[in-house]
Amino acid sequence: MEIDRPPQARLRIGLTVNGRPVEAGIEPRELLLDFLRNRLGLTGAKRSCDVQVCGACTVLVDDVPVSACCTLAYEARGRRVLTIEGLARDGRLHPLQDAFIEHAAVQCGFCTPGMILTALALLREVPAPTPVQVKAHMKDTLCRCTGYWKIIDAVVDAGRRMQAGEAPDAGGGAREVAPRGKP
Ligand code: FES
Ligand code: FES
Repeated sequence: MEIDRPPQARLRIGLTVNGRPVEAGIEPRELLLDFLRNRLGLTGAKRSCDVQVCGACTVLVDDVPVSACCTLAYEARGRRVLTIEGLARDGRLHPLQDAFIEHAAVQCGFCTPGMILTALALLREVPAPTPVQVKAHMKDTLCRCTGYWKIIDAVVDAGRRMQAGEAPDAGGGAREVAPRGKP
């Protein structure tokens, strides 16, 4: 995919976003969050605090959770970026997404993309975390709605599901996405 170079662009970068190669001209100060949301239309990562406090903008860069609000797009050159849009495969949700739904760990959903990607990084390192490990790992990702316990339960359960083979590490899932409006 080729992204148009804006007139003020002075840098050219190549990176992989959700498995797709992207070439783009960018402004030197362009933030990764703006690049993803405004240039690629990937609006899953949210802007909230804008100062690396809340975790709403979290994406994975080479498998590491990163605050896209405080990362330059230039810093992602040559790297693999995973956003929430890259998790479901072939119309199937990732087990983390399934678990968040089934445990009612989503209310307004504003924190959810960052929560799920932060949790994915943990489950790749610690496939069967305890609730205490989940709590410690997720401490910098804030949720104003759920009270956190449902999120912790969902992450523990997703670890079990992934260990049971419900998803390859790359992000494939096991459950068909129900058409909108159907149970
Ligand atoms: S918006 Fe990036 S950490 Fe809050
Ligand atoms: S579900 Fe609303 S902020 Fe977390």
